[in-house]
Amino acid sequence: MIKVLFVCLGNICRSPSAEAVFRALVTAEGMSEHIEVDSAGTHPYHLGEPPDTRASSAAARRGLDLAGLRARQATLQDFHSFDYILCMDRQNQSHLQQLAPPDLAEKVRLLMEFANEAIDLEVPDPYYGGTKGFEQVLDMLEEAAQGLLRQIRTDHFG
Ligand code: 4NP
Repeated sequence: MIKVLFVCLGNICRSPSAEAVFRALVTAEGMSEHIEVDSAGTHPYHLGEPPDTRASSAAARRGLDLAGLRARQATLQDFHSFDYILCMDRQNQSHLQQLAPPDLAEKVRLLMEFANEAIDLEVPDPYYGGTKGFEQVLDMLEEAAQGLLRQIRTDHFG
C-alpha cells in the first residue's frame, strides 16, 4: 500500500480538497486498493472541524464530497507512515522539513512539483479570499493529481 498525505496550514481548505480530488482520481483509475490518501495541517487552529464551507461547496460543484473529513495536525508518526508528504506551499514544506527526522525529510515535497504545467509551485491559501480562489485551488489540484498518480505508477507499479 502506498500512502499519500496532503498538507496545508489549517487542513480545512486546500489539503482536504487535495485529498478528495486525488482519492476520486485513484478510485476512477481502479487504484484504491493500492493507494491510501489522507490530509493534515501544520497548525492546530481548526482541529476536529469539517472543511471550510466554501471549499466543500466548490468541491461539490465538481462532484466531490468533503463531508466526513475532519481537521487534524500533522504528527511525527506521519513521516514514518506515509510515502509521499505533499505540501501546498513553501511555508508548509519548511515547517514539516524542520519537524521531520533527517532521514525522512526527503518525503516532504511540494505537490505542484508533480503538475505537468505548473505555472506556480505553490497552491495559494484561499482562506481570506473569495470564491474564485477556491476554484483556482481545485484547478491546480486536479492538474497535480494527474501527474502525481502518473509518478506513483512509475515509482511503484511500473
Ligand atoms: P488551509 O487554509 O491551510 O488551506 O486549510 C487556511 C485555513 C485556516 C487558516 C489559514 C489558512 N487560518 O488562519 O485559520
